[in-house]
Amino acid sequence: MILLNLKTYEQTIKNPLFFADIAKEVVGETGVRIVVAPPAAYLKESAERYADIFAQHVDAFEPGAHTGSIPAEVLAQLHVKGSLINHSEKRIPKDAIKAAVERMHHVGLETVVCAENPEESAELSQFEPNFIAVEPPELIGSGVSVSTSKPEVITKTVQLIKKTNPKVRVLCGAGVSTKDDVQKALELGTDGVLLASAFVKAKNPKEFLQQLASVF
Ligand code: G3P
Repeated sequence: MILLNLKTYEQTIKNPLFFADIAKEVVGETGVRIVVAPPAAYLKESAERYADIFAQHVDAFEPGAHTGSIPAEVLAQLHVKGSLINHSEKRIPKDAIKAAVERMHHVGLETVVCAENPEESAELSQFEPNFIAVEPPELIGSGVSVSTSKPEVITKTVQLIKKTNPKVRVLCGAGVSTKDDVQKALELGTDGVLLASAFVKAKNPKEFLQQLASVF
């Protein structure tokens, strides 16, 4: 899987839709699963356009008196497929992670729980998310890939999760910028990568995505 987190780089709907179209085309060409996570305000239009849209965050609350929150039920109504939870830039307490995973699965949506290191990955895998994404915070946005600069983080995460909860699949992210970074991530035992800056800033995002997808 390639998960493209658009963060809030995009301030108008134009680019999220453009990126969703690109993802659709590259999926059509390669068959590789590509998920796009646009800013919250653009989820509805993005999900109408492309089938594999994730939210960047979901709250553990049921719909009700929770101002400003994003409940799982709302994502389901929008035909969003899943959500990141506990991204490094949107950390939430452990009990909220557990509750968010449960609520998402209750409404039939997928979960990618982010963790900062192998130990936290193993701990959070006990909440039974579909995926754990390990991302060392210091490499996020750096252009220096976790898979090439800190391969031991990935190897250890994969090992610990195999012991703790082998059903959970592992992704890695932070600084992923090239085809080789993706190749290395797969060799180290992950099921894919998540990335943001290298994709949104690419001169030719489609060509860039085609290159990454060619590794799978
Ligand atoms: O969610 C992916 C992200 O945190 C990694 O960001 O810009 O290093 O690819 P980036």
